[in-house]
Amino acid sequence: MRLKRTHTCGELTANEVGQSVVLNGWVGSYRDHGGVTFIDLFDRWGLTQIVFDPEISAEAHKVAHTLRNQYIVAITGEVRRRPEGMENSNLATGAIDVYVTDFELLNKSKTPPFDILHTSQVHPETRLKHRYLDLRNPDLQQKLIFRSKAAAMIRSYLYEEEFVEIETPILGRSTPEGARDYLVPSRVNPGKFYALPQSPQLYKQSLMVSGFDRYFQIAKCFRDEDLRADRQPEFTQVDLEMAFVTSGDIMSLLEGLFSKMMKDLKGIDITTPIPQITYKDAMLKYGSDAPDLRYDLEISDITDVLKDTDFGVFKRAIDAGGVVRAINLKGYSSDLTRKDLDAMTPFVKPYRGKGVAWIRMNEAGPQSPIIKFFSEEEAANLYKKMDAEVGDVIIFLADTEKIVCNCLSALRTHFAKRLGLIKEDQFAFTWVVDFPLFEADDDGNPTPVHHPFTSPKAEELYKLDGSTEDILSIDSDAYDLVLNGSEIGGGSIRIHDHEIQNKIFSILGIEDEEAEEKFGFLLDALQYGAPPHGGLALGLDRVMMILLGTDSIRDVIAFPKTQKATDLMTEAPGAVSEEQLEELSIDVFLFDDEDDDDEE
Ligand code: AMO
Ligand code: AMP
Repeated sequence: MRLKRTHTCGELTANEVGQSVVLNGWVGSYRDHGGVTFIDLFDRWGLTQIVFDPEISAEAHKVAHTLRNQYIVAITGEVRRRPEGMENSNLATGAIDVYVTDFELLNKSKTPPFDILHTSQVHPETRLKHRYLDLRNPDLQQKLIFRSKAAAMIRSYLYEEEFVEIETPILGRSTPEGARDYLVPSRVNPGKFYALPQSPQLYKQSLMVSGFDRYFQIAKCFRDEDLRADRQPEFTQVDLEMAFVTSGDIMSLLEGLFSKMMKDLKGIDITTPIPQITYKDAMLKYGSDAPDLRYDLEISDITDVLKDTDFGVFKRAIDAGGVVRAINLKGYSSDLTRKDLDAMTPFVKPYRGKGVAWIRMNEAGPQSPIIKFFSEEEAANLYKKMDAEVGDVIIFLADTEKIVCNCLSALRTHFAKRLGLIKEDQFAFTWVVDFPLFEADDDGNPTPVHHPFTSPKAEELYKLDGSTEDILSIDSDAYDLVLNGSEIGGGSIRIHDHEIQNKIFSILGIEDEEAEEKFGFLLDALQYGAPPHGGLALGLDRVMMILLGTDSIRDVIAFPKTQKATDLMTEAPGAVSEEQLEELSIDVFLFDDEDDDDEE
C-alpha cells in the first residue's frame, strides 16, 4: 500500500476543508456528471463522496472509469466544502467532498451476487450464503457495533459491581435446561460423548460453592430445539450468579444494568424498580407469562357470568372445567371491519382455538352472531363485567384455560399491531414472579417449570411432602425479565440444601442412581458448605433484537444459522471422512422415516 490512510470515510467535516487527506475504502455508487465522476467511498465508519475531476488529475480521472462496485481504493485528495445547496445533512460527511489528486487500486471485486446496500428484496438464503458480503451492509454493521458496545457496557457495569468473569467448559456433561443436547463424541473415550452446555448452570452453582461470590460470563449456550424468529441453536447469555442474596438483590442489580444500558445506548430513562406481576396474574390478564405491556387490551374472565348458559359451545367448555375469557377492544369498533372479526377464527386455529365470538356495541344495540343464545340477564351481566359501551367490540373464547390463554394472548398481539397501538421506541419492562415450581406433564406428573435447581419459596417448603396437588401448587423463587412481550432473562434462588435437592429429584422421578450419575458432583458439592445463592441469565441476542427494533435474531448475530440449523456460508453441519469416524469408533447408520415411526 503506497497511500497510508489519514482519515476514515465517516470522519471528515467542514473543519478539514483545505486539508490533503488519504482515504481507503470500498466503491459504492458511481455517478458521471458532465466529465466529473462522483464515487461514494465507504468503510465501517461511514461514507464520503469523492470527486474525480480531469482538471485536477487527468490520470486519476481516467482510472476512475475502470472502477466497479466494491473495488477497493486508496485516494489522496483535497477536502472541499460542497457548493451551497448541495450539502447532505443526513450524512456525517455531507458538508464536504474530497477531490482526488492521487489514486491507488488496492483490490478488484467480482460483481457481487446482490446489491449490498439494498438487500430487502434479496432472498435470505443468498444473503446468508454470502454472509461476508451481507455484513458489508452498513445497517447490519451498525447492529453488530451496537452489540459490541452493549457487551462492553455490561462487562464494565458488572466489573464495577465486583463480579469476576470466569469461563466455563464447552465440552461438558448434559445440563438440564429442557432442550435436546448437542453431543460431541470423544475419541479417547470410545462410545462416550460430551454435551455442549445448554447454559453454564451447573458450573456457576459449583463456583458459588467454591466461594466465587459474584460470577459472570458472556457465555455461548447450545440447544437443539425447534427454531423461531427469536431462537438460535447457539446463542449468548449474560450469565451471572451471586451468593448470600435474595431475589430482590438480583433484580436490583439487573435494574441498575438496564437503567444504564437504556440511558447510554438509547437515551431513555426507564422507571425503576421495574414493575412486577405474578405468573398467575400475567396468565389471567394477558394469557402469557411474557406479557407485552406496551398496550392494555386486558383479558377478563367471564366464566361466572355464563356459567348457566344454554349456548352449547360455551356450556360444553365450562362443564368440562374450561373457562370463557374476553377482551374489550374499547372504542375500536369503527376501526374493525366484519372481515377483521371473521378472520379471528382461522387466526386462532394454530393455537387450537375452535372459534372466537364477538359483540359489536352499535348505537342501535349490540350486534353479534351469538348474542341470541344468551338470556337477557346473561347479556346484561356480560356488558357490565366488560364495561361495554357504544363503540366497543368484545371478543371472547371458550375452551380449556390453556387454549383460551394462548388464543387471547395471540389475539392481543394481533390487534395491538392491527390497531397501531405499539409506538416505536417504546420499552415496557416487567418482572414475572411467583412461577409455579412444577407443572403437570401429559401424564399428570410434576416436571420443573424452570430447571430442577430452582428453590421453592421458603414458606412453601412443607408442601414438598404433600400430595401431588400440593406439590403442583408450590410457588418457586424464580423470576423472568420480560421486555415488550419477550422473555429476555430468567433466574432463581437455588436450592443450597442437599436434602431438599434430593427431594426435588425424587418428586421428578429422578432416582438416586440417575441423579448421582447426572448431577452427582453438584449433589456432593452441596454437602460441603454451599452458600445460599441465586442468579439469572439474560438472552443477549434477544435484548439486542429488541433494543435495535428488529424482528429477526439473525440481524444481531454475525454468522447465524437457518431454520434447519445450518450455516449456509461454511455449509455446516457437513459430512466427515471415514477416517475421522473410525478414529471416533463411530459407524453412521441413518434411521429411515419408518424406523422413526417405530421409535415413537
Ligand atoms: P433460560 O433457559 O431461561 O435460563 O435462558 C435464559 C435466557 O436465554 C434466552 N434464550 C435464548 N435466546 C436465543 N435462542 C435460544 N434458543 C434461547 N434459549 C433461551 C432467553 C432466556 O430468557 N440457566 C438458566 C438461567 C438461570 O437460572 O440463571 C437459563 O439458562 O432470553
Ligand atoms: P359454530 O356453532 O361453530 O358455528 O359457532 C358459532 C359462533 O361461535 C361463531 O361465531 C364461532 O366463531 C363462535 N365460536 C365457536 N367456538 C367458539 C369458542 N370455543 N369460543 C368462542 N366462540 C366460539
